[in-house]
Parts: sequence; structure tokens; C-alpha cells
Amino acid sequence: MTSNRRTFAIISHPDAGKTTLTEKLLLTGGAIHLAGEVKARGQARRARSDWMKIEQQRGISVTSSVMTFERANEDGEVITFNLLDTPGHEDFSEDTYRTLTAVDSAIMVIDAAKGIEPQTRKLFEVCRLRSVPIITFVNKVDREGRPVFELLDEIADMLALDVSPQAYPVGMGGEFEGVLDFDTGCIARPEGPSKEFKGRRDCDAEIPERFAENIELAQIGYPEFDLEAYRNGDLTPVYFGSALKNFGVTELIEAIAKYAPPPRPQPAGEEQISPERDEVTGFIFKVQANMDPNHRDRIAFMRQVSGTFKRGMKLTPSGLGKPVAIHSPILFFAQDREVADTAEPGDIIGIPNHGTLRVGDTLSEKNAIRFTGLPNFAPEILRRVALVDPTKTKQLRKALDDLSEEGVIQVFYPEIGGQWIVGVVGQLQLDVLISRLSAEYKVEARLEASPFATARWIRGEDKALNEFEKFNLSNLAKDRDGDLVFMAKSPWDVNYQQEKNPDLTFSATKER
Ligand code: G4P
Repeated sequence: MTSNRRTFAIISHPDAGKTTLTEKLLLTGGAIHLAGEVKARGQARRARSDWMKIEQQRGISVTSSVMTFERANEDGEVITFNLLDTPGHEDFSEDTYRTLTAVDSAIMVIDAAKGIEPQTRKLFEVCRLRSVPIITFVNKVDREGRPVFELLDEIADMLALDVSPQAYPVGMGGEFEGVLDFDTGCIARPEGPSKEFKGRRDCDAEIPERFAENIELAQIGYPEFDLEAYRNGDLTPVYFGSALKNFGVTELIEAIAKYAPPPRPQPAGEEQISPERDEVTGFIFKVQANMDPNHRDRIAFMRQVSGTFKRGMKLTPSGLGKPVAIHSPILFFAQDREVADTAEPGDIIGIPNHGTLRVGDTLSEKNAIRFTGLPNFAPEILRRVALVDPTKTKQLRKALDDLSEEGVIQVFYPEIGGQWIVGVVGQLQLDVLISRLSAEYKVEARLEASPFATARWIRGEDKALNEFEKFNLSNLAKDRDGDLVFMAKSPWDVNYQQEKNPDLTFSATKER
């Protein structure tokens, strides 16, 4: 049986149009959300369901963490899409990366005027770690953008990925005449004063002479679409469109329905846990704390891997070792999510708890497997933690161990010197750290500049490791698990050490 679930995320740089595209996907897909809600949610609507009341009481906003919509595919089968939000902008954090470990595929949104930008690239690298297949959507073709071939070649070169265009913007900006879909040969044309797409496809249109050659080149000059290469993460089909004006969005949804993989087996050590397994299993990829630091409520997000989950079911979290009944799960199911009471592989379940569930935990009925492969990511911001009251060292250590265990921050204990270092990928994580230290552990702390820019986990034979340690003690630290970490002053530093020490590996990720 193949599943009708498509669990995916959007990766993009701020401003490329992720929010706009999300709204259009939800709208086109007949979702539970109304367009506009992603950005500005109406209070009235919010209070309507019990589920949203939970949200209000707990002060935890999960509304946009998982968005579910449905749509029939070409054969009339209903496909359920689970779109997981990858927080960007100021709330960019390790959660953003970890969310990508819970999806089966991703859409990469690129601004046609800007091409590949830094955050897109970072997120892409995380997808590549797990060979997550990617569909590319080049957005904003209603505006003046860069030449199509330049964009295609940039994606191919910068990301070392085969690109296979599936559409072509017939002109951009002032010359924009619509988007040609290669599959159907139809052009979606702008209509009305705002030049939006209103659903009229011109299927016997003559392609304007001046575009004909380029369109032919786009079709024959690039690799043909190959499902296997796409699913292995080696090739990306490229669509062009405008989220704002609604061009290319339907084609994009159809592409996800048709090509994006249904729930994939997940690694648990040597084993691959198939979605067909009867037992309910899943893993926690994100824990969201209450906005109010005086509350210990958390929502843990579990990606379901196998089985059919039912409300009230007992599952054993690997971190706890004893079963707990999941009485009030948040099931992000289409249409009536407050009354839905089962979930399937590929779905996300929000589990309210008081800090017992941690990022990386496995939940299962039999407590016999452990999912692996949920990594820690090399921090991009490193700060020294300074205590306001120096007698609180023990409390600070406990707090840092706890919070890093939970996945809020990473902690590094330098081999020399007593000042502990915390590492994150987004500024917000540091704000959360300081407020939780104070509210939950009664520890007042300050963050100070550290001389380090990033960190790498070092692995190798004992002999090579010992040798390296001897000469680099002042740049070494241990993480929460006691694993050795090289603290680098710059990316250049990492490259230099890697070249000098070919027997060691300097890894930017570590599996939890
Ligand atoms: P993000 O979530 O990726 O950060 O991007 P978002 O959707 O918020 O879009 C960023 C800006 O780009 C918005 O304009 C949005 O209207 C615009 N935009 C998105 N898609 C398209 C498109 O296809 N064509 C054009 N021309 N513009 C697009 P803004 O002025 O910054 O915000 P707003 O005031 O319109 O919300």
C-alpha cells in the first residue's frame, strides 16, 4: 500500500516568498486555514476550537508549525499534505534545521532576482545530509528577474545538483506573458488589472517567436526529469511562478503529489523502520517551550514513522523508559483537526508535556528501537556564559546540561579555563537560554563574546587524537556527552586543521 501522505517543508532565504507561497498552497489545497492566516490570524477564529484554546492557555503557538491540506491527484485519490514550518528571520534556530529531519521532501523557493542566497544554501546542505529530495520553485517571475539560464546554472553549480526545468516564464517583469508548463504545453496567462492568474490556461497558444529558441534550449539543454535521481536527491525539477500572483502554484502542488515520496523508512541503528510496521513509532524533532517562562509546559513534536496512532494510546519515550498515555495530543489533521483522533505515518503529533520529552527521543509501543540520525549541527554563534553570582556554578552546569539535552542550545566545556561556552545557530536560542536560566533555574547569567566562530566534532584513531590534543589544548572542548570538539576561530581554521590532520575528521554535525 502506498501512503497518500506528503510531508514536506519549504526552504528559502527570508523574503523569497515562503509565507506568500504557503498561503497560496493552503488556499489552492482547500486547507483548514484561510489565506492571510499564516501571517495574521484572527482572534475570533482562533478561539473557536478546543485545540486552539489549548494553545491560548499554554501560551504556545503551534498554529503554523504544521499545516495540513488535502487535494485530489490526477487519479482522483485524495492526497494529504503536511507542510512543516521552518522558522526563519529572527526565529531561525536549530529547530529550523531539525524540522528538515522530519520531512520526506522539500520545496526550495528562490527569488528570481536574487538566485541562491545564504540561508537557502545552508538549509539545502541540511537536506543533502539525509538526501531529502527537492523541488525548486523560482518565485517572483512577474517581476524583473535574472535570466532563466543564469538561474538554472547557478542552482546546478552552487548546489552541485542536476536541474531539470519543468516550466518556463514567458518574459519577466514588464514583458511577462505567463508561465509555460512543459508537461501540458499550456501557458497560464495573467488576467485583470492586477495581472493575476485566474485559472485560464491557454493550451494552443503560439509561443512568441523571441522566446521559442530559449524554451527549446530549456527543454533539451538540461537533464530530463528522472524520478529516481530526484528521490535520491541528485536532481531537482525546477518550476517557475509567482506566489503573489498565483502562477505555477497548482503545478507545484501537482508535482509534490505526483513525485514527492510518501513517508520514507527511518534509520534506527542498522535497521530501517518501515512505515508499514504495525507498531506505532516516531521521534521528537522539536520541543516548543511556553512563551511565558514561568510555565514549564512544552509541546513536543513527534514525526510518526509507523503504525496507526490513536488518541489515549500508551507510548514509551526512550528518555523515560516507562509508558505514558498520550491523552491530549494535538493532531494536525485536515479539516477538523480538533476531532481527529488517529494519525498515520508521515503525520506530526504535538504532545503536551512538562519537560519529559526531549529532542531526539524515540516514542514507541514496545520500547525496542531507537531512531538515529537526528543530528546536532555545528553552532554558528558561540558565547561565553558569565555568572552574575559566581557561587551558582553547580546550578549553571545542571541548567546547561539540561537545556542542551533538550536541544535549546549546545554547550561546550573548554579543556583549559573555566568559562563555559554555549553554541547556537540563531540569536533567538540565546534569548531563550537567558530567560529560562533565570525563570527555571534561578541563575542570572550574561553572555560574552567568545574568540570562537564555529565548532567541529573531531573523530579519529586514539593515537592521532592524542597527538592533536597535545598541540591544540586551548582550542579543545568537550560537549555534553564528553565528545571532543575543536573550537575554531574561523572557517579557515577548520580547513587548515583538516588539511594538516588528514587522519582526523572534523565534522559539522553529530548524531544524537
Ligand atoms: P518570506 O516568508 O520568504 O520572508 O517572504 P514573504 O512571503 O513574506 O514575501 C516577501 C515579499 O515578497 C513580500 O512583499 C511579498 O508580497 C513579496 N512576494 C512574494 N511572492 C511574490 C511574487 O511572486 N511576486 C512579487 N512581485 N512579490 C512577491 P513585502 O512588500 O515585503 O510584504 P507585504 O507587505 O506585501 O506583505
